[in-house]
Amino acid sequence: MPIVTCVRDSPISYTGDVLVLGIQEGTFINATLDQVLGGAIAKAADTLKPLKCRTITTLGKLPFHHLVLIGLGKDPSLSILRKASGLSAKVCRELGAKRAGNALLESNTPGSATDRAQAITEGIILGLYQYTKYKSADKKIEFFNVLGDADEGVRKGNLVANNVALARDLVNESASNKHPVLMERAIRDHLQGLPIKINVLGKSELEKLGLTAFLAVNRGSVHDPRLIMLDYEGRPGVPVALVGKGVTFDTGGLSLKPADSMEDMKMDMAGAAAVFGAIKSAAELKLPVHVLGFLAFTENMPGGDAYKPGDVITAFNKKTIEVLNTDAEGRIVLADTLAYAETFKPSALIDLATLTGACVVALGEVSSGLMGTDQPLMDKIIASANATDDRAWQLPLYEEYSDAIKSDFADVKNIANKGSGAGAQAGAAFLKNFVTLPWCHLDIAGPAWSRKEHALGTSGGTGAGMRLLIHFLEKQ
Ligand code: BES
Ligand code: ZN
Ligand code: ZN
Repeated sequence: MPIVTCVRDSPISYTGDVLVLGIQEGTFINATLDQVLGGAIAKAADTLKPLKCRTITTLGKLPFHHLVLIGLGKDPSLSILRKASGLSAKVCRELGAKRAGNALLESNTPGSATDRAQAITEGIILGLYQYTKYKSADKKIEFFNVLGDADEGVRKGNLVANNVALARDLVNESASNKHPVLMERAIRDHLQGLPIKINVLGKSELEKLGLTAFLAVNRGSVHDPRLIMLDYEGRPGVPVALVGKGVTFDTGGLSLKPADSMEDMKMDMAGAAAVFGAIKSAAELKLPVHVLGFLAFTENMPGGDAYKPGDVITAFNKKTIEVLNTDAEGRIVLADTLAYAETFKPSALIDLATLTGACVVALGEVSSGLMGTDQPLMDKIIASANATDDRAWQLPLYEEYSDAIKSDFADVKNIANKGSGAGAQAGAAFLKNFVTLPWCHLDIAGPAWSRKEHALGTSGGTGAGMRLLIHFLEKQ
């Protein structure tokens, strides 16, 4: 990961290897720089489309070797600034730069200098992100400089983006190296020295408490489950609770997934990773909030004692669940975790989960699906999603969706009647049975994992949901 710092240099005196300059439609181009390069910038900028790059060699006329121009369009938003910083940083890396500069802070963008610098810094770090544990990167930038006067934004950007990168690392890790017991170890290590209380419930504690539904999902696995509870009290008062699905590998259980659908299922703990990263960030940013995290880790395996289709299980809140498909395990784990989280009397509960393939069909990798029982809470989530470009789109949770999960044998069944469609809503309608307090659910199944390289990262884990959560906590 590069170290991003703020430097006061002007573009003309910048001494790194490569400099990134933004080209804004209809805005005056840096005339001194253009003059030194004999008008090359104006010429190249003329046809430069938004978020496209063009490289100019400086031929010894400037202290840096290459100038990377990036199109910003007419009225660049913070989102464009973030993406432009990511894309151009990749070009700098391709050019072999060891130290590169970004001069996008001077672009004419809405928002404070702090917001802009944060977006730029996030863009640089996330754009350059690579998962290098098992495959080394051939090109690497050590230092990136943001030109201007915005130390605070650069500091926040570093902090947030490095935690998003950490969440990505956890999601990208092989499932065999991150079963629940190993997740506990990793989380304890990463939170060392931070003012976050960690309380971990293992199998026997979960049995004593009666989290039978969560334990049912775990029965087919040789690895014990962990409910990891985090408590960051940046201000005394009623907490907000964040709940994360942490299925470290989802085979589907006895309702086994086909091989193709199982390939990426190490990502099924992305909700827990995002909640972990958000709470770590809240503590590091010293946010004045009280936030609880409930990370529910288990594997979903088809081992000898695995729970079976047709089983009826009793959740923590005493409601009974008919399990018709063991692959709809996330909602079963969350049912118990949400109901248990409510005993801590939070003002609101927000769960993040890679819950349904149906949500991927509905919204693709582009956005999370948002559903819940409390519109003011969801409005806040939408505002944070828009502010951070960590997208969330509300889907309705009409009463009819609950009809489709009525069971002949239990209070509720874990899949909807055949042909009822709206799979993401069926998942949320199921979860609704286990909450009484203001609640919303983010189905991050689409954006949590990218199949291809993108402006803000590579293929694989993305850290989706985390930046919006941090923003939400900042606004509490
Ligand atoms: N973890 C999956 C959901 C998922 C699918 C996440 C694709 C990311 C990408 C979840 O546990 C699951 O298998 N859901 C089933 C539910 C169905 C059986 C009602 C699904 O979506 O197919
Ligand atoms: Zn599943
Ligand atoms: Zn799953």
